Amino acid sequence: MDAWKPHLSQLAPYPYKRVDARVKLDQNESPEELPAAVKERALARLAALPWNRYPDLHGEEVREAVARFAGWPAEGVAVAPGSNFLVLALGQAARRVLDTSPSFAYYEGAARLSGVEYRAVKLGQDFGLPVGGLLAALSGDPGVLFLSQPHAPTGRLFPRAEVESLVKAATERGWMVVLDEAYHQFARSDLRDLARQNPRVVLLRTFSKAWCLGGIRGGYLLGAPEVAGKIQSMLPPFLIPAHTGAILLSALESPGYVEALAGRIAAERERLQAGLARHPTWKASPSATNFVLIRTPDARAAYEGLLSRSVLVRRQDHYPGLQGCIRVTVGSPAENDAFLAAALALP
Ligand SMILES: Cc1ncc(COP(=O)(O)O)c(C=O)c1O
Repeated sequence: MDAWKPHLSQLAPYPYKRVDARVKLDQNESPEELPAAVKERALARLAALPWNRYPDLHGEEVREAVARFAGWPAEGVAVAPGSNFLVLALGQAARRVLDTSPSFAYYEGAARLSGVEYRAVKLGQDFGLPVGGLLAALSGDPGVLFLSQPHAPTGRLFPRAEVESLVKAATERGWMVVLDEAYHQFARSDLRDLARQNPRVVLLRTFSKAWCLGGIRGGYLLGAPEVAGKIQSMLPPFLIPAHTGAILLSALESPGYVEALAGRIAAERERLQAGLARHPTWKASPSATNFVLIRTPDARAAYEGLLSRSVLVRRQDHYPGLQGCIRVTVGSPAENDAFLAAALALP
């Protein structure tokens, strides 16, 4: 690969391997499908599309619908088939990337792929926001700071005042702050006002979780028009496929199901936490998301023990500071029962 940029030789594959199991709780997906009436409308829309024609250049119709839904000017919206594309474009644009550790793996992936300096500051006690460490790391040339709120993979919702003071300090020093709200519906948190007031703040949101559309691929960015426009123009033309666009538009016409699902998931999450509190050795972290991080005596034994009982979770012990940790997605009530029964049978 002599023709390729040298930094690509360091590129690690994305840390995911597909495994099949009856109870699939490894990808923070919604356990529920799109409501049947919405799916039917989406299928009718799909059937009426001319499949021989290219879709919109930059998903304009979806952008308009997202803008109406989010109460945002359409010029400040960028859309992509998954927010990962937006993370990638932001990584490409960044002079350098600052992150927390542990963190959603693709922030680092995008920085490494882009060949820019990447630094991560360890979370504090009980996975708290390391404000002091991040402020210290903000010296020097500005770049892009990624922060998921609530946080992945810990599930923590940071106190809003801490996020606000970090955003203020970072943006005053010229940094751009990307607030990834992939899980915000489960926390009932909303940082749109921070992005409205400050052109150096952008929000990322996804259709993959509370919108029940993980397989369809859709995500969006809300920001200042010059930021959203630049990021959109960095993405390839015709990136949102016509079928994805049709499905996203149908979901955006009936968004009421999202909040209802998020409420059911939050209630099930509390039930999972209460069940796990009975475990003699496993310790679940507080979570404001649709997943729970659990510290066990041995992540491999916990993962394999659950899998032998047909329950698939995700090991997290490859992350710094997460020794012994696994992550379980909040599933349907029956899936959560199966998980709890299996977990409580393990040491
Ligand atoms: C924090 C965070 N951001 C973004 C994503 C990816 O979203 P998408 O499916 O829209 O690419 C995930 C997926 O797990 C995530 O956990």
